[in-house]
Amino acid sequence: MNEKILVTGGTGYIGSHTVVELLENNFQVVIIDNLINSKERTLSQIEKITGKRPEFHKLDLCNLQAVTDFFSVNQDITGIIHFAAFKAVGESVSFPMKYYHNNLTSLINLLFCLSTYSKPVKLVFSSSCAVYGDSDILPVSENLAMKSATSPYGRTKQIAEQMLQDYILTNTNLQAIALRYFNPIGAHPTIEIGEDPIKTYNLIPLLTATALQKRNELYVFGNDYDTADGTCVRDYIHVVDIAKAHIIALKRLLENENKNRYEYYNLGLGKGYSVLDIINTFEKVTSKKVAYKILERRTGDVSAVWASTKKANDILKWKADMTLEEMLLSAWQWELKKEHICC
Ligand code: WQD
Repeated sequence: MNEKILVTGGTGYIGSHTVVELLENNFQVVIIDNLINSKERTLSQIEKITGKRPEFHKLDLCNLQAVTDFFSVNQDITGIIHFAAFKAVGESVSFPMKYYHNNLTSLINLLFCLSTYSKPVKLVFSSSCAVYGDSDILPVSENLAMKSATSPYGRTKQIAEQMLQDYILTNTNLQAIALRYFNPIGAHPTIEIGEDPIKTYNLIPLLTATALQKRNELYVFGNDYDTADGTCVRDYIHVVDIAKAHIIALKRLLENENKNRYEYYNLGLGKGYSVLDIINTFEKVTSKKVAYKILERRTGDVSAVWASTKKANDILKWKADMTLEEMLLSAWQWELKKEHICC
């Protein structure tokens, strides 16, 4: 397929891995990213993997004029994968308006421009398991009613999904699939791209930096949760498995196979692992010790969440392949390599 796909946030973690899959599936790709939490060098790494360098525009989706100008020049876009957003649960508790402004204004501007766009567009939206809130029913499936989110980040994803559904009800030019990721981790098998944020908040990059002694110790946020070992439980899934699901969802829309104009799917491994499980498994597969210290709980965290993956398995014919050991090993290999990647 040589359809032209816009990837917002395409130099980011999940975005860059998805761009690789798009290019390897012969899509044309144009990236918009403001590089607030990613690096332009990622474009060179994508080119190294695929032999193709995607078109790139450094642009902030919160700037309506810039987005309007972009679409006025790019009239041949048939698909959009919208990643651009802040994603750190803990940070969103400390800076809620930063999250509401960025995550919602960027989507509002995108939809505003699409309302006058010359052709129909198919959109895959980067949503999150955070939309389920602190569910007391596990695993969480898509037909579960959303509880109140436990963080402003989760609330921005709930509002964004609602906004998309309301927009689609009144605009015939858009159809969308929301993909609700659980915890994406790991790095591309070439180890040319991986999790490479400007500011690091997520467990795995902090863990691998500690193992490489770039940090003195890893802080474990709470060991008094109602879980087997008292630490939080999450559903960790390899970033390439997530990326592949985006291609499947995009093709489903472009080939008009979606049964509803708005669909949504969980993307998870379907298993829960605690923070201590992660540390112990990492030490086992790498033979590296991870110094850690138990601190108090992090506001915004849910105690446990993992996915029912039946809907994506049955309808998208998608299933996560990578094991936890493989995911953690790829994250470690990326930590060892990324220091040597030129700027
Ligand atoms: C994981 C666990 C922390 C850091 C992520 C993404 C979010 C969404 C869901 C995609 C938690 C604990 C963490 C640390 C720790 N995914 N932790 N010490 O908050 O589950 O959210 O997955 O959209 O975008 O951010 O991920 O990696 O921050 O935390 O103990 O230094 O590790 O308490 O239980 P989270 P995380």
